[in-house]
Amino acid sequence: MKTIISHSSQGTNLFGQKLAASLKGGEIFALIGDLGAGKTVLAKGLAKGLGVKSRVNSPTFNILKLYSVKNHQNIKYFCHVDAYRLNSAPDLEAIGVKDFLEDKQVVTLIEWAEKIKPLLPKGSKIIKIEHLTDNSRKINY
Ligand SMILES: Nc1ncnc2c1ncn2[C@@H]1O[C@H](COP(=O)(O)OP(=O)(O)OP(=O)(O)O)[C@@H](O)[C@H]1O
Ligand SMILES: [Mg+2]
Repeated sequence: MKTIISHSSQGTNLFGQKLAASLKGGEIFALIGDLGAGKTVLAKGLAKGLGVKSRVNSPTFNILKLYSVKNHQNIKYFCHVDAYRLNSAPDLEAIGVKDFLEDKQVVTLIEWAEKIKPLLPKGSKIIKIEHLTDNSRKINY
């Protein structure tokens, strides 16, 4: 596991953009971190790095949002999940998220992934974000 310190929300966004560069499709990022840790900031960076053109917002009230990825060889969609309001994995299963998790043309990022642990496939990439100060975060990945 690697660690970086991000000193600003731009730094966390940039970390997300850099993560996107090496993706082939089918990756699942399981984000763990408190309220305001920067999970959505990282998601926006990842989406930007993938080439998502539309605005990425927190999916808290929708639970799942699907974005088109333009001009990528293998990846067609970015799937942004927020499990905060879910109580269990079956809740999310009911939404049909499994189809996205298994799709090699999709990159998925799940906020509050600890809430749906039983549903996370083995190869999911865990990213932990911790508050250090107002503007700095420790990111383990
Ligand atoms: N180094 C940093 N990295 C990320 N965000 C930062 C950083 N420093 C300050 N912030 C601020 O912290 C907030 C992070 O909000 P964000 O919505 O990304 O958190 P979240 O983890 O998605 O929270 P939630 O659990 O409510 O979804 C933003 O207001 C952002 O500007
Ligand atoms: Mg969020």
